[in-house]
Amino acid sequence: MAEIIDGKAFAERLRAKIKRHTGELFAKAKVIPGLAVVLVGEDPASQVYVRNKGKQAKEVGFNSFEHKLSLDTSEQELLDLLDQLNQDKNVHGILVQLPLPQHISEQKVIDRINPEKDVDGFHISNVGKLATGLEGFVPCTPLGCSMLLKDYLGDLSGLNAVVVGRSNIVGKPMAALLLKESCTVTIAHSRTKDLPNVCRAADILVAAVGRPQMIQGDWIKPGATVIDVGINRIEAEEGKSRLVGDVDFVSAQSVAGAITPVPGGVGPMTIACLLYNTLVAAHRINGMEFVD
Ligand code: GUN
Repeated sequence: MAEIIDGKAFAERLRAKIKRHTGELFAKAKVIPGLAVVLVGEDPASQVYVRNKGKQAKEVGFNSFEHKLSLDTSEQELLDLLDQLNQDKNVHGILVQLPLPQHISEQKVIDRINPEKDVDGFHISNVGKLATGLEGFVPCTPLGCSMLLKDYLGDLSGLNAVVVGRSNIVGKPMAALLLKESCTVTIAHSRTKDLPNVCRAADILVAAVGRPQMIQGDWIKPGATVIDVGINRIEAEEGKSRLVGDVDFVSAQSVAGAITPVPGGVGPMTIACLLYNTLVAAHRINGMEFVD
């Protein structure tokens, strides 16, 4: 039976550490990390995420600035707000919740965020830094996966890692992080030939395809470490719904060496890593090095 990698508990410990460092930063430099979260429109899932980000930011002692804009906000109005947040000395991290409404260009919006405040790690300058091994900001979900893997496995060097999914938010940065840890990395996706066999070569399997329970137990190498990034709501008995990952947990659990559950695995790590990136930003902007 696979060991369960408890992302919820890891995230709680990480938040406690961030809270302690936040107190020390204030004692040393009178700086309070500030996170600005911008939401355009009223998508219910995005509203929940934004609320949780604000709540957890306050819990670790940050200032939280929430900007809720109506669906008919123009692209120019959003860019003007970003200019203002880029200038604001009390704001160290800026996150614009995606997806944005159709009439606003995500690319233009991401480009406008000061890369030093881009705690999502989506700006092309941070993407380039990750790709070339320079210090920048790493997208929160893959950063969280990498922390869990290093905590559980220790040294990752030489391991075969397969990432299923090639999104800019998860798959591509995840592959870059695993490569940085000296894994042999394969990026698989919907067009990959014989996906089950590709997955069977993985010592580390990261599932980020967004398809409920797609990866089966017999696709997994015995003893492999499985990181499930998927969060899919499916119909359950009696008209109820439940959350499942991209991995078929029950069949995977009897083959894998370790696996993250859904919920309670990768999910809680994402916001904890957003807070981590914001703490790092608050140090760097004030000319201080963040020592973990
Ligand atoms: N929407 C879904 N995931 C994310 C994320 O990591 N960052 C932002 N800004 N929006 C998202």
